Amino acid sequence: MSDNTIFLREIERGDLPTINAWRADKALVGLLGGTFRYVGPEIDGKWFDSYLSSRAGNVRLAVCLAATRELLGVTYLLGIDWVNRCAEFSIQIGVESARGHGIGEAATRLTLEHAFGDLNLNRISLTVLASNDRAIALYEKVGFRAEGLLRQAVFKDGRYLDVVPMALLAADRR
Ligand SMILES: CC(C)(COP(=O)(O)OP(=O)(O)OC[C@H]1O[C@@H](n2cnc3c(N)ncnc32)[C@H](O)[C@@H]1OP(=O)(O)O)[C@@H](O)C(=O)NCCC(=O)NCCS
Repeated sequence: MSDNTIFLREIERGDLPTINAWRADKALVGLLGGTFRYVGPEIDGKWFDSYLSSRAGNVRLAVCLAATRELLGVTYLLGIDWVNRCAEFSIQIGVESARGHGIGEAATRLTLEHAFGDLNLNRISLTVLASNDRAIALYEKVGFRAEGLLRQAVFKDGRYLDVVPMALLAADRR
């Protein structure tokens, strides 16, 4: 995949219907650490307003296909700590047919470039379900390292699941 296949931009209010549809996709939410909830459009409106008033410490980016500008997914850098220079990364390629074509990797690398190169962060952490092989393979490929195992840390779909905390330091980038 060429580096120009996708680009990142900040999320905007017009993205909310697409993001809301992803929240309702149980198979997608099943791969994430968070709990499935039914979320109406008014709540998403408030969620976006809350992001606008907290963007000093949070970055929410849209992953778009360069050729069509189609919204394929999102990446986030949340809870930025400007003293310790760290933040929490997350990614979702919401369009299922776009997965497995290098887009997640490219979006992760572009977001990390922003985190380290523009925002001068030093440590990016994340958590991932221990069962999410695809995401773990991607994170290891770009240099994240596991930092232990959080046993039965989340309850999803009727059972407790293990979670792997991972982190990447600016000095570890691949
Ligand atoms: C996880 C996710 C971001 C990966 O992005 P992607 O575009 O599908 O993956 P890419 O095509 O960029 O592949 C990058 C690497 O991931 C791994 N990977 C990709 N598809 C895989 C699969 N089916 N099985 C195992 N590993 C896989 C490989 O290491 C791959 O590198 P390689 O092609 O050199 O082998 C994306 O699939 C996604 O958003 N899934 C749903 C939500 C999710 O799981 N988010 C992460 C929550 S922590």
